[in-house]
Order: sequence, then structure tokens, then C-alpha cells
Amino acid sequence: MDVLDLIKRDHAEVKSLFDQFQALGQGNEAQRAGVAKKILEQLPAHDHSEEAAVYSPTRDRVEDKSDRAKVAEAFEEHQAASKLVKELKSLSQSDKKFTATMNELIAAVRKHIEDEEGKVHPLVRECFDDAERERMGKQFEEGKQRELARSA
Ligand SMILES: [Fe+2]
Repeated sequence: MDVLDLIKRDHAEVKSLFDQFQALGQGNEAQRAGVAKKILEQLPAHDHSEEAAVYSPTRDRVEDKSDRAKVAEAFEEHQAASKLVKELKSLSQSDKKFTATMNELIAAVRKHIEDEEGKVHPLVRECFDDAERERMGKQFEEGKQRELARSA
């Protein structure tokens, strides 16, 4: 499968988890904790694998300075998200700060997804042909599964 389709599928999944988290209020603590756990597992696995399978090869192939900046910005947004994920993992779910930080992460990742699909995906499509994107898709999925197994 084309790596961009796989990535978009993950984006739809994580956005649905965000919606679920934000719709669950007090009294649904156990369910909310389950959704939060999924977010904190899936997001880093997606991001790390995407960096290796997509961002790095794209950065190496683009020549235009402003295109490079788009990839660099996506890397930076991953770093910012990763910091928030680490913080969330160190907090108890009952901590008030947990919800505030999760909402911060959700807002940042929603924006990142828009940026990435709007700015980085067109570059990937320009730089890599169908067969290459197919190979990148395989690499992306394998990398993600490895990350998930490691964090389990
Ligand atoms: Fe991303």
C-alpha cells in the first residue's frame, strides 16, 4: 500500500481517538484512561516510523530550500509532540494537569496532521514514484509494528 494512504489511515484513527478522549467526561475515567493509553502508544510508534521511512528519505531528496524547511518543520513538530507524550507518561491520569496536557497534545497533533498532509505529502508524491511509495509503505508498517512491540 502507498505509504501516504497508510499514513492518512493512521491520522484518521488517531483523530478518532482524540474525539473519543475529548467526548468522555468525568464518570468515564476507566474508558478515558484506555483511550489515553492507546494515544500514548500509537502516536510515538507512528511518528518514529514515519521519520525513518518518510521524513528522512524525503529530506535527503528534496533540493529546494523552502521544501527542506517544510520537512524540518514536520520533524520539529514531532519533537514537540514527543515531549508532551513523555510528560503525559510521567503524570497520573487523575492529575488535573493530565487533561490539560493531553488537550495541548491533541491540538498540536491536529495542526501537525494538517501541515503534514498539506505540505509534506505533496513533496513525497513529487520525490517518489508509486513503486517507491509502496516500498516505503512496507517499511513504515514494519517499523511501526517493531515500535509497538517494543513499547508493549
Ligand atoms: Fe507526522
